[in-house]
Amino acid sequence: TGNRTFTMIKPDAVENGHIGPILEKITSAGFKIIAMKYTQLSKRDAREFYAIHRERPFFDELVDFMTRGPIVSAILEKDNAVEDFRALIGATNPAEAAEGTIRKLYAKDIGENAIHGSDSDENAAIEGAFHFSGREIY
Ligand code: CMP
Repeated sequence: TGNRTFTMIKPDAVENGHIGPILEKITSAGFKIIAMKYTQLSKRDAREFYAIHRERPFFDELVDFMTRGPIVSAILEKDNAVEDFRALIGATNPAEAAEGTIRKLYAKDIGENAIHGSDSDENAAIEGAFHFSGREIY
């Protein structure tokens, strides 16, 4: 079981002023921030980051959404990080997310769903390395 996961506070949550409350929930849940930046993805970045979804009907919409404004990306450390973080953020579709989860509180719909969380230890490592160099991880 891995001890790191990768997250992005997505453009919708940034636009709506939810960076602070979301970071508060993350740190209160016991996650330690070991890397973090405020940044905006280029179309090329977003297409590469979401390459696994490139055949999906929502791919272009996803790329447009994720590049329309700044995001906060971070690497988080905690025992059982991937699984515990996915529990904290809730289901991909906020309509199905449990009460008190970040998506239930802050997401609009399945596309504009406020926050990303890696789905496996392997992807957490790949996604973290996509956004951060070794010298940016503390
Ligand atoms: P996430 O699970 O972080 O990564 C893939 C993203 O694709 C997902 O969040 C949503 O933002 C988006 N997504 C997934 N399913 C749909 C859908 N049916 N329509 C639009 N966007 C979607």
